[in-house]
Amino acid sequence: MIINKPRLLSIAVIAALSATAVGCLDSDHSSDDQSDYMERAQKLVVQLTDQEKIRLLVGSGWGTPPINIKTDVAGVAGYINGIKNDDLDLPAVKLADGPAGLRISPTRENDPQTYYATAWPIGSLLASSWDPKLVEEVGKAFGNEVKEFGVDFLLAPGMNIQRNPLNGRNFEYYSEDPVLGGIIAAAMVDGVESNGVGTTIKHFVANNSETNRRNIDGIMTPRSLREIYLRSFHIAIKNAQPWALMTSYNKINGTYTNARRDLLTSIIRDEWSFDGLVMSDWMAGDLENPYTQIEAGNDLIEPGGENIYNSLLASYENGDLSLDTINTSAIRILTEALQTPSYDLYTPTNTPDSTAHAALSRRAAAESMVLLKNEGAVLPITDAQSVAAFGINQINTYKGGTGSGDVNVESIVNIATGLADRFALNSELADDYAQFFEDNKVEVSGGFGNQMPYYTCDEPTFTTSEFNDYAAANDVAVISIGRIDGEGSDRLNERGSYLLSNDELTLIQGVATAFHAQDKKVVVVLNVNGVVDTSEWSNEVDGILLAYMPGQEAGDAIADVLSGDINPSGKLAQTFPINYSDVPSSATFPGTDTDSDGTPDIEYYNEGIYVGYRYYTTFNHPVAYPFGFGLSYTTFGYSAPQITKNTLNSDGAEGSIKLSVVVTNTGNVTGKEAAEVYISAPQVELDKPAIELKAFAKTNALTAGSQQTLKFEIPADILASFDASNNQWIIEPGEYSAYISPSSDITNVAPQTFTINSKIIVSNTTPGALALPEGVDPASFITVSQ
Ligand code: BGC
Repeated sequence: MIINKPRLLSIAVIAALSATAVGCLDSDHSSDDQSDYMERAQKLVVQLTDQEKIRLLVGSGWGTPPINIKTDVAGVAGYINGIKNDDLDLPAVKLADGPAGLRISPTRENDPQTYYATAWPIGSLLASSWDPKLVEEVGKAFGNEVKEFGVDFLLAPGMNIQRNPLNGRNFEYYSEDPVLGGIIAAAMVDGVESNGVGTTIKHFVANNSETNRRNIDGIMTPRSLREIYLRSFHIAIKNAQPWALMTSYNKINGTYTNARRDLLTSIIRDEWSFDGLVMSDWMAGDLENPYTQIEAGNDLIEPGGENIYNSLLASYENGDLSLDTINTSAIRILTEALQTPSYDLYTPTNTPDSTAHAALSRRAAAESMVLLKNEGAVLPITDAQSVAAFGINQINTYKGGTGSGDVNVESIVNIATGLADRFALNSELADDYAQFFEDNKVEVSGGFGNQMPYYTCDEPTFTTSEFNDYAAANDVAVISIGRIDGEGSDRLNERGSYLLSNDELTLIQGVATAFHAQDKKVVVVLNVNGVVDTSEWSNEVDGILLAYMPGQEAGDAIADVLSGDINPSGKLAQTFPINYSDVPSSATFPGTDTDSDGTPDIEYYNEGIYVGYRYYTTFNHPVAYPFGFGLSYTTFGYSAPQITKNTLNSDGAEGSIKLSVVVTNTGNVTGKEAAEVYISAPQVELDKPAIELKAFAKTNALTAGSQQTLKFEIPADILASFDASNNQWIIEPGEYSAYISPSSDITNVAPQTFTINSKIIVSNTTPGALALPEGVDPASFITVSQ
């Protein structure tokens, strides 16, 4: 499953560079690997003055044009400076957000043309596809827009672990599980980078809340960092070798991530062989002493500016910053910059195929949605049924979250439109909702970097007899519930945020009572940026479709699933708990105010490795909907599960476990099924979660009655646990159980077993790296894992 592959580099880049970077290249343009670019970068760096090198390490500053920009793109987030002198002509490089589509300005001064990028489904939705092929396909189209709109590096994918459902940026991220998140991120990186542009995996690492995000100090054990938070990044790096990585705002165990040498040099360079560039998040870390970032291995400071440049220069002159370190970072930056379209003097067309991309965005969204409930087969809605649509969110549909993960789009297909395109929709009701929204909408203010206006609106009220009339006149009700949130703040365990508001609950209850009294069914569509409470109301409705934020084609994609034109095959990439208080980090999120200034400053990761389903399954907490769960309009049978090969005992760290299962479509309609492999490992010296996801695979579209054999491979490093006392990744001896299961609920799944004869040391790691702060005893704050 995990393959190391060399990057393919464009010969054109090299050819163009030889014409622009005068006298800086050797004549060998034939080789095509990273070390070639590094060699060229080394030769370039020798020709730079110390000041020029430092200019490379610092972006140009907010709103300040970079050195030697060739063709600027309005709305990019930052730049890598170019160099222009008598001998060299190195162009500036453009960096733009973000995770759900390219964030650039749609208009430019004195230019009648518009530059609208496609809004793709948010990360949490794409991950719910459990389909790296689909994500890579999205990545290819996404990367094509990056290139054709003139950008060099995408500041995405975001891939932090969804530790707590209230993190405002969860929508940008993939999963509570590092294997799923890492593999999906790698697919996105591969897709985007196949266009010859870079990706920037972010935010490294443990950037799991937004409250006081620039200073929050996450206190966590090296084991939880290694097994949960670092692991997804390691998988993405190992599988896809992204061009860049962005460090996070937060501190870990007392030190900003962008100033941690153990993290940025010992771990990612020495242990993982990451060969891309590392950049800071925007205005992150100790900006009084920016040299600490460079010394730690954070090569590029963004957005940079004159003050940072002067500070680095002073640090160099007074000896705090060594020339060696400056050279190393300058070489890493140039190694990647050399591969960009800007260095290739590529002329962007500014006309990607937006029609094809809109169609792909719609399909990817529909294929990824998760059907949580479908009692009495309320779904799919047939062509003969008439639909009454309730909920202000049918008009006020959200394509994605706010902040740097937002995208400027030309238009959004709202849910009312999508339903009207596909069904006999009660148009009077839809028109009333549209009017009510126009009259009562409230703009969401203060959102971090909103690109487009966003609104909220209370629900209109209906009398019982109005509800009864709608129930009499229509066959089925669809209620849309929406949530808009994003960067800069966390959500709250309150009504209108994580919990449904009173007017939403009243609406659900009113519709359900009236429709059920007339033997008619009710479906809820969740157009939300993250997990919301379902326990208070799920019993009152027949169907629940989790659409998350589906991108610009939201309404049509939702109608595709409600109608059965697309059979849902998404599965949860995060657990839906019964109550927020069940979440293992609920008592500590988003931190403790230890200095009494009114803002949390320390966040204890008390749950250790027991994040998400690892906690619920180990400590027997029932959940509303388990990790990995999702229904289909057909049914699937799993047969002949087996372990086909175990080379761990013979090959140790190079070995793996191979498994297979036959998945049969036992229902009546065509569908796809994701099968998940959970391992239950023996407890020898280390405690272990009851089960952990170690592999997954998805079938092709299986027609009724047909079957497919799915194959899985779990390499040693994915099976291993982290032994902090010996700084080692190890596989402990004993009997292991493998559950090939449709979800993390393995209750009815018979395990396949295999045995590890003796302890396998998979790898040694840097002694003492990421240690807890002096004086913090792990036992003093870990409450759930021991
Ligand atoms: C965000 C990053 C983003 C950067 C540039 C920061 O505030 O945390 O995710 O890439 O801004 O817009």
